[in-house]
Amino acid sequence: SKEIPSLHYAFRDNFKIGAAVHTGLIRTEGDFIARHYNSITAENQMKFEEIHPEEERYSFEAGDEIVDFAVRNGMSVRGHTLVWHNQTSDWVFQDPAGGTASRELLLSRLKSHIDTVVGRYKGQISAWDVVNEAIEDKTDLTMRDTKWLQILGEDYLLEAFRLAHAADPQALLFYNDYNETDPVKREKIYELVKGLLEKGAPIHGIGMQGHWNIHGPSIEDIRMAIERYASLNVQLHITELDLSVFRHEDRRTDLIEPTAEMMELQEQRYEEIFRLFLEYQASITSVTFWGTSDHYTWLDNFPVRGRKNWPFVFDQQRQPKESFSRLLNAAKGS
Ligand code: G3I
Repeated sequence: SKEIPSLHYAFRDNFKIGAAVHTGLIRTEGDFIARHYNSITAENQMKFEEIHPEEERYSFEAGDEIVDFAVRNGMSVRGHTLVWHNQTSDWVFQDPAGGTASRELLLSRLKSHIDTVVGRYKGQISAWDVVNEAIEDKTDLTMRDTKWLQILGEDYLLEAFRLAHAADPQALLFYNDYNETDPVKREKIYELVKGLLEKGAPIHGIGMQGHWNIHGPSIEDIRMAIERYASLNVQLHITELDLSVFRHEDRRTDLIEPTAEMMELQEQRYEEIFRLFLEYQASITSVTFWGTSDHYTWLDNFPVRGRKNWPFVFDQQRQPKESFSRLLNAAKGS
């Protein structure tokens, strides 16, 4: 409605405000999305298995619809994601005989994929998550043990960034990961990106996913991660922000609405977190929520399938929550 201020307009002097979308949302709540967000990311529809399901077949309908919507409404698009261990079809890593693809074959597929996908949206997608979640977060190992690593070795990251840069020299290229405020993983991410920069990789930023909850991580841990990454002189994008009302280990399923206590914690946290982001607005150039409103979130199916969650600043009717007002307070610096 008319009286509700626009969220992205409130932060117009600070950073982009984005949302993860899919074509269904664009069709049913496009006006709402365009009013409050000035950047969008495809939640799934540009991932390898969706946009390139078979070796000789790309499927650009959904991606095109999302990019066209953004162009029509003067919004930015973040491309998500070119190289990931998830949502990538098995054929990518197989040879024609059903064995494991050779290094040469996988490299040539990586090149075709990046040339074709980045090339299609050249000039329209301003930032790409080139490599997603390549760091191991359970053991002492640095790199996650993926097919990309097994077949190509660690240089697959450098190669992916070079290919993306060649396909669209104007696009900003990001390494994107989660648990990014954990001190151990933070250092692994820092060292990885530092090493890539030293090798001359065209990498322009670090994506901090921001899948947090109403209890943690602490503002201090978030601050230390921002400072550490920013010390590499790269841009920071918050790429997938949501504040779950449950701790990760909490598996309870009895709630049909959030408790008042949960909402108060969420309001406080949203305000503190955005005040923190504003302190670092020289580095943070974009803040994207991993959804548009509590009407739909991937957290409704994670970690418990079918359990509702309420992680955003708009409610299930797309109306502003108290958290939304807290963001406006933060924006005003009051
Ligand atoms: O489209 C299929 C449908 O055909 C099928 O019948 C149905 C049954 O399971 O699943 C549908 O696919 C689901 C897909 O989302 C599209 O809705 C998958 O099961 C489901 O696993 C998939 O989840 C996505 C998840 O990535 C998969 O890795 C979430 O929506 C998406 O929010 C999530 O996003 C990731 C980021 O890309 C990277 N960072 C973490 C973030 C959260 O996990």
